[in-house]
Amino acid sequence: MNIVTIIGARPQFIKAATVSRAISKQKGINEILVHTGQHFDSNMSDVFFDELEIPKPNYNLGIGGGSHGEQTGLMLQEIEKVLMNEKPDWVLVYGDTNSTLAGALAASKIHIPVVHVEAGLRSFNMRMPEEQNRILTDHISSVLFAPTDIAIKNLEKEGIYNNVLNVGDVMFDAALFYGDLAERKSNVLKNIGVQTKSYVLATVHRAENTDDSNRLLMIFSQLNKIAIQEKVILPLHPRTKKALEREKYDFSKSSIFFIDPVGYLDMVALEKSAKMIVTDSGGVQKEAYFHNVPCMTLRDETEWLETVDAGCNHIISDLLSIFDRFQSLSKQQFDFSRKLYGTGRSATEIVEYLMK
Ligand code: UD1
Ligand code: UDP
Repeated sequence: MNIVTIIGARPQFIKAATVSRAISKQKGINEILVHTGQHFDSNMSDVFFDELEIPKPNYNLGIGGGSHGEQTGLMLQEIEKVLMNEKPDWVLVYGDTNSTLAGALAASKIHIPVVHVEAGLRSFNMRMPEEQNRILTDHISSVLFAPTDIAIKNLEKEGIYNNVLNVGDVMFDAALFYGDLAERKSNVLKNIGVQTKSYVLATVHRAENTDDSNRLLMIFSQLNKIAIQEKVILPLHPRTKKALEREKYDFSKSSIFFIDPVGYLDMVALEKSAKMIVTDSGGVQKEAYFHNVPCMTLRDETEWLETVDAGCNHIISDLLSIFDRFQSLSKQQFDFSRKLYGTGRSATEIVEYLMK
């Protein structure tokens, strides 16, 4: 059986690492990896291949940057060429990025069945490029691996019932597999000079926060208020760096401790020891829960409702309240005991199902 896997953005390398490892252990499957090039800086791409031992991509299409149409269109064109050449039995896509949609659409148009990992997530906000990508991908997929029952229900509401399975979340597999390794291998806390539970970890990259000047400046002003009181460590996504430069943000006057994007092991180490995580990332919200750290999510909604229902993830839609909410949440206790995202066997279940 031949599978072509399409990946391109940081979270997809982490998701694919667990499934690719399960595929490599299974006789009878050959995986061909295609990197679209959507993320291309070495600390946004190569570092994950090295650390997570993902095989070197068979194809790197080198399509990074550009507008949505330009990026997705070029990917569609180039992925189609790869698929015509490789003629796989399945095309495997992850999540909700432009690489996901381009991979799914290229395959579906030429009648190669699409397997979508992380199917069924919905924010119900169609302005998000990710919401458009995931809905379109789900509707042209032949096998849909959903991480939660809520995701399964979302698919049912859209009339998608066949070959839909809740296998749990591949990112939970990754958190379990790399969690201990991160503690043993990462020196990031020592290098930065912080003690465990003595700092806040923040990430910001979502288009709705970076492309809107008011939201961007509000977030960074509120994070700065926290940073005057507590160390705030912020690995800066290239999109956000560009946005802050556009706004002529004065980094030298900020109390936030900016660092370049870090590899996954350092990120997990930083997450595990943070006293609070403040983020707009999908993956980081869940990892906060996996590592028992309370989370504040800087968005109007989330796809990961289970973490909110468990009381451990707080949606902060009023950005002016970030600092006040941080102060009140810092005094609260949280219960992380519910298992929300499977048993850590997601990747194995995906491969077993495909073999059947
Ligand atoms: C993309 C995904 C988003 C995901 C995020 C993960 C889409 C529509 N968005 O957003 O769902 O949460 O990845 O991080 O697919 N850039 C660099 N170097 C890099 C990567 C990006 O300079 O290594 C620059 C690009 O040139 C571009 C900007 O950052 O100007 C945004 O990159 P892009 O991949 O288009 O979107 P993300 O915001 O990263
Ligand atoms: N991540 C990382 N280094 C960083 C920031 C994030 O390894 O500097 C990891 C993080 O642990 C998570 C994933 O990248 O596994 C989340 O990616 P991102 O926030 O870019 O995208 P999203 O999950 O929102 O799509």
